Amino acid sequence: RIYSRIAGTGSYLPEKVLTNDDLAKFVDTSDEWIASRTGIRERHVAAEGETTGDLAYHASVRALEAAGVDASELDLIVLGTTTPDLVFPSTACLLQHRLGANGCAAFDVNAACSGFVYALSVADKFIRTGSAKTVLVVGAETLTRMVDWSERTTCVLFGDGAGAVVLKADADTGILSTHLHADGGKKELLWNPVGVSVGFKENEKNAGVRIRMAGSEVFKYAVKALDAIVDETLEANGLDRHALDWLIPHQANLRIIEATAKRLDMPMDRVIVTVDRHGNTSSGSVPLALDEAIRSGKVQRGQLLLLEAFGGGFTWGSALLRY
Ligand code: ACO
Repeated sequence: RIYSRIAGTGSYLPEKVLTNDDLAKFVDTSDEWIASRTGIRERHVAAEGETTGDLAYHASVRALEAAGVDASELDLIVLGTTTPDLVFPSTACLLQHRLGANGCAAFDVNAACSGFVYALSVADKFIRTGSAKTVLVVGAETLTRMVDWSERTTCVLFGDGAGAVVLKADADTGILSTHLHADGGKKELLWNPVGVSVGFKENEKNAGVRIRMAGSEVFKYAVKALDAIVDETLEANGLDRHALDWLIPHQANLRIIEATAKRLDMPMDRVIVTVDRHGNTSSGSVPLALDEAIRSGKVQRGQLLLLEAFGGGFTWGSALLRY
């Protein structure tokens, strides 16, 4: 049996920080409203000209360094994003060239906020089947580029950032299982209503590119879907919920995270939380939280981690792994 083991992680956040008080200067909101509803206090915002590919590159260099892997050793790059630099080539191809990993397969996965978990699952399959031995998995986003800064119901929620993981084939331990789901019937509860094929809206700001969301419905659906996938993951591995060492959830809203922790009967000091400082970085959020947890020394080798995410599509997914 072959496992995909995490050999190294890395992450990157743009320098500029936008606090809730900064936001309250140009939109009708307050630190109190945002923090009490979401847990968010600040987020990072990419500088002008700084792209998803740039964030992905810096996170990847750190992950390769931590893993002691040279880019030329990579067999595959899978990058989760819903804010690619270009329509094509994929951001994974741009990243491959910049890292000097020319020749290996490279592609993007778009599953909105579940992008990293989807990408991780795909990479795991390549390793398990023997098609690849060393894989770079990235979650990177510049979601603030999609935000309408005059729309208080959405603009307070999102931030930019990237995280990356180097997976290596291992005979002993690593990813135990991944679980993916989608429900395309809920498209209009969380979406960006324009695109190349549907067309853009020339008379609207940003050509109509913006996040539209029915917040409270997304909230309810997310909690239900995450409860179900947590149960599914434990059941598939014959595990009791108390077996987990760490929960590393998608960072959209502290109240959603707390609901999942409650389902697992996990105290919050066993849950990695970055949403207060990062906001929702979509595909970037899980690998950012994972990297922070590992570098801070919280997560130790041999521990059992549950990663989960929920996002537009709807999409949701999980990964259970022994680090
Ligand atoms: N500041 C101040 N007031 C606000 C703000 C704001 N930023 N945003 C909304 N309000 C107001 C509303 O206008 C409304 O006022 P009204 O009662 O006078 O009409 C009131 O606050 C309550 O609005 P709700 O939308 O009902 O607030 P709710 O408690 O549901 O919180 C929130 C909204 C935080 C968005 C919550 O629903 C949520 O987090 N949902 C999940 C969203 C999510 O996680 N999305 C990301 C998924 S991942 C992805 O793929 C992108």
